[in-house]
Amino acid sequence: MSDDNGEYPGERGMLGGDQVESMQRRLDIGSVPAQESPMIRIQNASKEFDTARGRLRALDPVNLDIAKGEFVSVIGPSGCGKSTLMMMLAGLESPTTGTLSIDGIDVQGPAERLGIVFQQDVLLEWRTALENIMLQAEIRKLDRQASLEQAHRLLAMVGLEKFANAYPHELSGGMRQRVSICRALLHNPSLLVMDEPFGALDALTRDQLQIDLLRLCANHRITVLFITHSIVEAVFLSDRVVVMSPRPGKIETIVPIDLPRPRRLSVRESPEFLRDIQTVTSVFESLGVLHED
Ligand SMILES: Nc1ncnc2c1ncn2[C@@H]1O[C@H](COP(=O)(O)OP(=O)(O)OP(=O)(O)O)[C@@H](O)[C@H]1O
Ligand SMILES: [Mg+2]
Repeated sequence: MSDDNGEYPGERGMLGGDQVESMQRRLDIGSVPAQESPMIRIQNASKEFDTARGRLRALDPVNLDIAKGEFVSVIGPSGCGKSTLMMMLAGLESPTTGTLSIDGIDVQGPAERLGIVFQQDVLLEWRTALENIMLQAEIRKLDRQASLEQAHRLLAMVGLEKFANAYPHELSGGMRQRVSICRALLHNPSLLVMDEPFGALDALTRDQLQIDLLRLCANHRITVLFITHSIVEAVFLSDRVVVMSPRPGKIETIVPIDLPRPRRLSVRESPEFLRDIQTVTSVFESLGVLHED
């Protein structure tokens, strides 16, 4: 974090409405006019890889706009190009055709205002939880003292304040993934891309992290591109679910999710939730990705 303006204070329901509002003003994440242009614009972005077996088409041209503050999930069968799409948005792979832009600027290298959480937590085993989070500050050459304070705040936010000095092997899978999320948030990104971040977790931890993530994103109006294999997770978290077809992937359909926010776990029992689950499931059935026999 380069200055003091981007701090995330404790998230555990301690903030009053006007405190949140004043924080939003400080973070410059207030309400957005309806005519605002999309934060993310993906136009005809496709990807082919050169492999030992020849050229492999990983992703057919994709078009997708995402508004600031929107939570969009991408779901699709293994190998359909979800991670490739995320890597292109993060500037870690270049598209074979098309363009991707964030805030109107073409992505041409590692994107600045973006946080990434990978499927595996990729923590460095010889660094403590705090030191792993501080890696972000070191790479970005951020102010050390301000970053340390921010790292402690983030650790407290995810309930790990007592584990700042623990090494990764001393943490559970869910704790490790929480540390990864803290690292992704250290520089106060306005955009978070997450590649199946909860895939390896037990169901209870997964539920809790989903709730934590929703609260965090709502309070700070973070835009999220979230990759998952779980239809239930995608519907629970998202404003829209992007359903992809098998490789070479393309967007088959986009399902809007109009469930009320803030989302409570109990929404998963509502008829509207089940209807959205059924909508996504039937797309996979029509693609032959899911079948009963
Ligand atoms: N660096 C690479 N070099 C060659 N082929 C690649 C590379 N990265 C991905 N691929 C191929 O591109 C296709 C899409 O891969 P990608 O990792 O994007 O799929 P995915 O949808 O994320 O799958 P999963 O759900 O299993 O994570 C796959 O066939 C994969 O083998
Ligand atoms: Mg992947």
